[in-house]
Amino acid sequence: MSTTTLGKAKTIKTLNNIASCGLSVFNKENYTVNNESENPDAIVLRSFNMHSMELNAQLKAIARAGAGVNNIPVDKCTEKGIVVFNTPGANANAVKELVLTSLIASSRNLFEGVAWAKTLEKEGEQIPKLVEAGKKNFVGNEIRGKTLGVIGLGAIGALVANDALDLDMEVIGFDPFISVDTAWNLSRNVHRAMSLEQLFATADYITVHVPLTGDTKGMLNKETFKLMKDGVYIMNFSRGGLINEIDMALALESGKIGKYITDFPNEEVLRMKNAIPIPHLGASTNESEENCAIMASRQVKEYLDTGNIKNS
Ligand code: MLT
Repeated sequence: MSTTTLGKAKTIKTLNNIASCGLSVFNKENYTVNNESENPDAIVLRSFNMHSMELNAQLKAIARAGAGVNNIPVDKCTEKGIVVFNTPGANANAVKELVLTSLIASSRNLFEGVAWAKTLEKEGEQIPKLVEAGKKNFVGNEIRGKTLGVIGLGAIGALVANDALDLDMEVIGFDPFISVDTAWNLSRNVHRAMSLEQLFATADYITVHVPLTGDTKGMLNKETFKLMKDGVYIMNFSRGGLINEIDMALALESGKIGKYITDFPNEEVLRMKNAIPIPHLGASTNESEENCAIMASRQVKEYLDTGNIKNS
């Protein structure tokens, strides 16, 4: 990453792998992108956990190059007058594409089928015969005509909902932060916005797109699983903490939940039968990293220059 100081620079410290293209905007106008700075005016970060970090007196802004801000001590920042930004929508397309990929791939038992095919490596000429004999174990289901329940109809949830309709799914939605009517109007195509209980009772597949807060922590648990159809697939590309993982492990074991596709593997998840652990790849595309870095940089720059808070 290049560092150019012109005149009296304001210092931006980057934590994590923020695409340098976004931060290079600072180099032109009295900004220094400096990873060594002990007293930066602003911090731009991705996954670094700031909860145990000291917030120095000079710090004015923190921007998360991503949607979730649970790695930032937002309350402490607010007390100290430090503005916290995120980059709403900047990685939404990347996440949407992986949600839909996972939806289809898990329905077709693709993850398990590929893993099994790899085990045949040493079987030589027998491989085609073994493949034909083994494929009966991976017969899947089509998603056409099935019902997808989207919890959270923000930037990502609305994109998932709209594209799932194009895949001929029935799509129903719920949003915990806005009314059913508003959710209905916001997400162009969601067939029906409904209560969470109705969604649980109707969906064949559920995808969660809400932030992790005190209210949403553990929102999917043994009580809510009881309201769901047997064998429902749950996709979690938002945050691990939204799911009670002890309850999830038992629900997978009993077959109440058919599969749990999660972007947040941990020890619990890796032990779960029928869990599909994905190594937090939802937003990991070149395009999304660039979009997030640029949006985060611009927000911070505008705030330091003018005092305007623009979270877009
Ligand atoms: C997000 O909060 O938008 C994602 O977790 C981004 C990421 O992968 O860093």
